[in-house]
Amino acid sequence: MIKIAPSILSANFANLVSDIKAVEDAGADMLHIDVMDGHFVPNITIGAPVVKSLRKVSGLIFDVHLMIEKPESYIKDFADAGADIISVHAEASRHLHRLLQMIKSEGIKASLALNPATPINVIEHLLDDIDMILIMSVNPGFGGQEFIPAIYEKISLLKEYLLKKNKSIPIQVDGGIGLSNIKKVCDCGAEVIVSGSAIFRSENVKETIRLMKKADED
Ligand code: DX5
Ligand code: ZN
Repeated sequence: MIKIAPSILSANFANLVSDIKAVEDAGADMLHIDVMDGHFVPNITIGAPVVKSLRKVSGLIFDVHLMIEKPESYIKDFADAGADIISVHAEASRHLHRLLQMIKSEGIKASLALNPATPINVIEHLLDDIDMILIMSVNPGFGGQEFIPAIYEKISLLKEYLLKKNKSIPIQVDGGIGLSNIKKVCDCGAEVIVSGSAIFRSENVKETIRLMKKADED
């Protein structure tokens, strides 16, 4: 069964609580929270205080995607704020193993994110330290961008590699996914789908999430 992680980047920031409730009621499996610092990516979004406030109004799994420099300086803040999963970018740290251990030592799940141009072999010596792999299918920084077609093959190669290694680490894919391509993304091996604009800009959030979740059934 496909897991859906709506990205609040495309929600109404003046009405976050009701937008989050809407995806929660619609059966979202987790809430994808995009944190950007204006350095690692050319955009600024929200920080740990907002996550902490949202924690009080939602029981969803908080899937925090850190698109920031020096992620090691902020892991504790986001863990204390209520993150259940933290994704860190392979491109943002010189000491990835230590960073992933730091996340796990907070008692939460560690996920490794790869930009579109980053080869999948960076995970080779980290397979015992990651709970999820986030494959970016757009260049991080903005919602509403187009899915980069070369990423289909990247997902398939990663899935093949994980099967060969006998690892059941879920693959999350983020960027440019909607009803028109979700099936293809899942057929390649994705299990967790992040979607922002296709969910929050749709006329019927509930129906969109329902259709997304059954995309791999036919
Ligand atoms: C992009 C973010 C994504 C983004 C996805 O930098 O990491 O999570 O919000 O938005 P859509 O689904 O609109 O591409
Ligand atoms: Zn994201």
